[in-house]
Formats: sequence, C-alpha cells, structure tokens
Amino acid sequence: MVCLGNICRSPIAEVIFKKKLLEAGLSWTVRSAGTNRYHKGGPADARAIEVCRGKGMDLSAHIARRLTPADFDQYDVLFSMAADVTEEMQGIVGDESKMSRVRGFMDALYPGQARSVPDPWYGGAQGFVECWELIERASERWIEILRAEG
Ligand code: 4NP
Repeated sequence: MVCLGNICRSPIAEVIFKKKLLEAGLSWTVRSAGTNRYHKGGPADARAIEVCRGKGMDLSAHIARRLTPADFDQYDVLFSMAADVTEEMQGIVGDESKMSRVRGFMDALYPGQARSVPDPWYGGAQGFVECWELIERASERWIEILRAEG
C-alpha cells in the first residue's frame, strides 16, 4: 500500500486490508510505504489513528517508512493510492518494467478511470472518515479480485 507520506492513506489501507484478510482466512503479507521521506520514522497522522480507533483498529504502532526499489521485488502487487503517487513510484523504482506490479487502488471500484483516494491530509476529520470508508470498500473488492485471479 503506497501513498505520499505513509501517515494517512496507506497505513489506513494496510490495517484495513490486514483485518479483511484475517477474516477471510488468508495469510498474505501486507505492508505500507510512502514515496516521500518527510514523515519517515514517525507515527501515523493523529487523525488517521483516531478514525481507525473509532472503527476498532489500532494504528498507534505504525512507523512511517519510504518506499524502496527492493519493495518492487518483494511484493507481487503494489497498490498506488493516487495518480501523483504512481508518478513518484516510477521515480523510485528506476526499472520501468517493474511498474507492471503497480495497480491503482481505486481501480477495484472504478476500473479504467485512474481515480485517486482523495488526500485527507489538508482537510478535517470528516475527510478521514470518508477516506477510511472508501478504502474499506476497495479492500473488500480487491480481495475478491485477487482471489479470482489466483
Ligand atoms: P498520505 O498523506 O500520503 O495519505 O500519507 C500525506 C501526508 C503528508 C504529505 C502529503 C500527503 N506531505 O506532503 O507531507
């Protein structure tokens, strides 16, 4: 799960996806990262921690990290939260062919539309609730899609 700062969207996606996988009895490995280094080593945004807490999920132990070229080898699928994130990912991976592992996270709900998960960073708490709910819907759909793909 990849976003810009690894403090809002991708940590929320990581915790939701992990919970959905647990419920589905699947043991896939999920991790998150950001394309920038501004928040590296720090916690998730307090508003992200709060919205997750309200939904019964604990994000308090999250430590932001930056996406590395090695992540493109380690993971079968890299979900980009937004169009600008995908551009940044290209800059990090270097090898263009490895971008084939990248999928737009919103494509599960809106195929072919190249939509982004709106960045809640500049807004208030309501934006985080909407972000959480959108990510939950996409996570459920992605698990169906990935299972069908085998
Ligand atoms: P995120 O939100 O990518 O969902 O973690 C952001 C957090 C920080 C910044 C941008 C987006 N930033 O520019 O510092």
